[in-house]
Amino acid sequence: MARPKVLVTHGLFEAARNLLEKNFETDYWTEHDHIPREELLKRVADKDALVCLLTEKVNEELLAVAPRLRIAATVSVGFDNLDVPACTRHKVAATNTPGVLDDTTADTAWLIMMAVARRLAEAEAWLRAGTWPGWDLDQLCGADIWGKTLGIVGFGRIGREMARRAKGFRMRTLYHDAVRVASEIESKFAAEFVSFDRLLLESDFITLHVPLLPTTRHLMNAQTLAKMKRSAFLVNTSRGPVVDEAALAEALKAGTIAGAALDVFEFEPNVSPELRALKNVVLTPHIGSASIETRTRMAVVAADNVVALFEGRRPPTILNPEVLSTKQAAQS
Ligand SMILES: NC(=O)c1ccc[n+]([C@@H]2O[C@H](COP(=O)([O-])OP(=O)(O)OC[C@H]3O[C@@H](n4cnc5c(N)ncnc54)[C@H](O)[C@@H]3O)[C@@H](O)[C@H]2O)c1
Repeated sequence: MARPKVLVTHGLFEAARNLLEKNFETDYWTEHDHIPREELLKRVADKDALVCLLTEKVNEELLAVAPRLRIAATVSVGFDNLDVPACTRHKVAATNTPGVLDDTTADTAWLIMMAVARRLAEAEAWLRAGTWPGWDLDQLCGADIWGKTLGIVGFGRIGREMARRAKGFRMRTLYHDAVRVASEIESKFAAEFVSFDRLLLESDFITLHVPLLPTTRHLMNAQTLAKMKRSAFLVNTSRGPVVDEAALAEALKAGTIAGAALDVFEFEPNVSPELRALKNVVLTPHIGSASIETRTRMAVVAADNVVALFEGRRPPTILNPEVLSTKQAAQS
């Protein structure tokens, strides 16, 4: 019997490839650059499954040219690249990779938060330039993190990992989320639920961990930035459009806030030249989950979802279980 065909828009990692190759006829995009849209639409047309990256949009246009498609598995936890309602209309299972990247992404947020507070990029650039004159008392003094107030926006998997780290740094932790968590979880992470306004007004560091949704687009804008302390820092490892980048550049130039650490950008891969020119920002190229262990786990989760569907099992991290048969949907 012919094996189902899967299009994979990246070479993935061996562990994930092994899973797919046992079960599927595989077609990998292995060029260095991302698959061009036209090529994606052409290649997906006769496929039963798609494993894609957050840079590929699975929308009505793609679903319309892929009548055989049964699953679109993105190798990311953020799934703003998948039009889930459209997938549901086309009876295509949509899956993401939650839970396997929480620590690594929180580590990245912590890393860049400390880097901007302690002026790491500036300090390193000075040393590399060969012009450092030697130690001095008031040289490159930044801001402490320990003992300060951390404001976490979006208290889900990654947000909570930030709270866990904050305990070790003896910080006071505030959080805001669309949904208040149970008091046991608040106690476990020593985090206090506050209104968004209070979080903006009281935090020394604000870290964003919300998904990109219509309600979170430009959550940080000229008005919300203006409510932050002048000494406060903003950290964004969520999605670029959660922050109005032009308003942020203005706020940083005007001294409305002290600094920002950004791993994601509103118009990726473009980063506004204004931000790039500022010293009080740390910029990283969307490396939130970029450890070899975590990226491998993410690829395996995506492959596993595809394999599960075709074996008649429930894909472990399905976003739209309503497309499954009653029997498959009932599995936990
Ligand atoms: N930089 C990176 O490489 C990287 C890596 C991993 C995840 N991410 C991003 O981080 C996001 C969060 O991931 P997660 O696994 O913690 O997700 P999650 O679903 O566990 O948590 C998101 C939280 O945001 C809350 N939320 C939703 N809308 C809100 C609103 N309007 N106001 C306040 N809170 C709101 C939800 O209730 C939830 O608690 C992902 O969606 C992804 O976009 C980025």
